[in-house]
Amino acid sequence: MSVDFKLISSPLQGFTDFRFRNAFHEFFGGIDVFYAPYIRFNGKLEIKSSYQRDLNPDNNQVPELIPQVMTASLDEFLLAANYVKSLGYNEINWNLGCPYPMVTKRGMGSGLIDNTQQIDHILDHVLSTTDITISMKMRLGYESTSEILDTFDILKKYPLKNIAIHARTGKQLYKGGVHLDAFQKCIEQSPHLLYYNGDITTTQIFKDRKLLFPSIKHFMIGRGLIADPWLPHMIKNDLTDYPEHRWEIFKAFHDQIYTHYADFLQGPTPIKMKMQGFWGYFSEQFENPQKTFKKIKKASNARSYNAAVSEILHSTQKLA
Ligand SMILES: Cc1cc2nc3c(=O)[nH]c(=O)nc-3n(C[C@H](O)[C@H](O)[C@H](O)COP(=O)(O)O)c2cc1C
Repeated sequence: MSVDFKLISSPLQGFTDFRFRNAFHEFFGGIDVFYAPYIRFNGKLEIKSSYQRDLNPDNNQVPELIPQVMTASLDEFLLAANYVKSLGYNEINWNLGCPYPMVTKRGMGSGLIDNTQQIDHILDHVLSTTDITISMKMRLGYESTSEILDTFDILKKYPLKNIAIHARTGKQLYKGGVHLDAFQKCIEQSPHLLYYNGDITTTQIFKDRKLLFPSIKHFMIGRGLIADPWLPHMIKNDLTDYPEHRWEIFKAFHDQIYTHYADFLQGPTPIKMKMQGFWGYFSEQFENPQKTFKKIKKASNARSYNAAVSEILHSTQKLA
């Protein structure tokens, strides 16, 4: 179906790595562009092997992948930009959204939004010395929703590809609602192409946002896409009913990521923790999310985990 908008997978560190992205694209589709979770440095000017694996083009089978970096340092930015270029990527996304105190206290993520001088310094240098394309992913501010408007004064000097905005402040973490009025102000005041991000969890919410912001043609979905992997496909095809083989396909997707993580992660505890993380979101598709999640948490080994998954899917299909 031809539509006039694009859906972008908003990255979740610890969840949307290449194994997840490839399987997602293969089984559900509906996403045009995937953003990779951020590259971060821990005091050393080197790209950790987990990021290298995640960005390696040989490991990625999705139509378009955009690497991301989270830093407040010019040297780190340059290293990340040159590294992704060396892999064949033309664009790097800059994370000014992460809300966690460990990050913001170091002036990174959403803690960087009000440091317009440093943003200016980095953009000026990177864009005048390299040929990488830069896009931004931001919150509205750390403390207040108007911080971003001051940042626009600097950003408008630069040819950024786009600015994706998660319509919350950093201080909010994930609590409270998105600020739709503040996002509207961004549309009015930014000359750049804006992407909307925040709390798209149903086709109806997507439609409401699209109606409210008719000039926006790019929508990013983060948690909603793990909680309901069919969501992008349903939005794209304007469906209200799930596909007939909803659960069989979900099971095949689940088994693929499970197998890939089990091959990679050593020992029963890491795989249990990994899948439990996913089920924190997956559970939301089922009638009783808490009860569903409890069943997964109770499973103490691979056999009981697989039995729990089968039981959950079996009872859901019986209800359908
Ligand atoms: C566990 C977790 C990890 C995240 N990791 C990243 C990340 O690596 N890069 C990023 O730009 N945003 C990250 N985010 C933010 C999401 O991409 C997204 O902007 C946010 O969840 C709001 O969108 P949503 O309501 O559709 O989930 C993360 C969010 C969560 C909950």
